[in-house]
Amino acid sequence: MRELQDAAAERKALVAGLLAVPASIAPRYFYDPVGCALFGAICELPEYYPTRTEAAIFERYRSEIVAAAGAGKQLVDLGAGDCRKAAAWIPWLSPRRYVAVDVAEGALAAALGQLAAAHPSIEVVGVLTDFMAGLDLQRMLRARPTTFFYPGSSIGNFLPDEADRFLRSIRRHCRVAEGSGLLIGVDTRKDPARIRAAYADAAGVTAAFNRNVLNHVNRVLGTRFDPAAFDHVARYDEDLGRVEMHLEARSVQTVQIEGIARSFEAGERIHTENSHKYAPPQFATMLDHAGFERVRCWQDAAGDFAVFYAQ
Ligand code: AVJ
Repeated sequence: MRELQDAAAERKALVAGLLAVPASIAPRYFYDPVGCALFGAICELPEYYPTRTEAAIFERYRSEIVAAAGAGKQLVDLGAGDCRKAAAWIPWLSPRRYVAVDVAEGALAAALGQLAAAHPSIEVVGVLTDFMAGLDLQRMLRARPTTFFYPGSSIGNFLPDEADRFLRSIRRHCRVAEGSGLLIGVDTRKDPARIRAAYADAAGVTAAFNRNVLNHVNRVLGTRFDPAAFDHVARYDEDLGRVEMHLEARSVQTVQIEGIARSFEAGERIHTENSHKYAPPQFATMLDHAGFERVRCWQDAAGDFAVFYAQ
């Protein structure tokens, strides 16, 4: 496991986000061990269609996708989590080397141990880093043909111009070795009511996931946020094509943050996540602008989700 994190800089950014008006917390703080488990539960919710729709596309077009990406390469799993999605590809892509990148140490370490034991011939590497803050894996990856795997529509967490920059940096990595490419899942624009429901589920799992970010922040910063004092807010902005999640203070909340008393008014919100949705032609254009020369797309019959392979 290699650690490419700058704890002091990350802490500073977290504090700055909380002191700013409006306040924000980066989505990476969702993923402490409880948050990882809650995210697993979200993926099983009836309202949360992305995970199962993507899995169905992967399954249905498995051989076409394998033919496009090619087997026997280095597989780089961006936001690997519990590595379950990549594990399903391993028998098909037969990677020589598997590099799992994530911010959540617990999930990654456990999953990599199992994976390495199950596939003794694959070189397994874990990298702890927040690639949302910039991706430079060149040294780690060496000049080998690589399939970058970025499923789940995690790209939606980036603002569109950040997504552009991110795609460009992947493209730069791909140029290093012929036969490299990006396999990526993207949630599409659709009926706003369905999108909204996916982030405001009836069982309240997403609400718990959102509030839990404050438990994580409390541990990182030694603050005393009361998660129960905040409401889960999820709204879909149709023009921007994005879900925004917020935590809204139910009453005045004063929290000591690095010696500063930060008061949140009743109704004041902390922004915790953007989840952008893209129409497939729009995303294909972004891949094109990033310099990818050949772009393929697979979708489910309803067009709820899109999988791209770009090279
Ligand atoms: C992991 C970023 C793809 O945006 O749908 C799920 C996270 N947040 N429910 C998403 C999430 C609330 C998820 N991504």
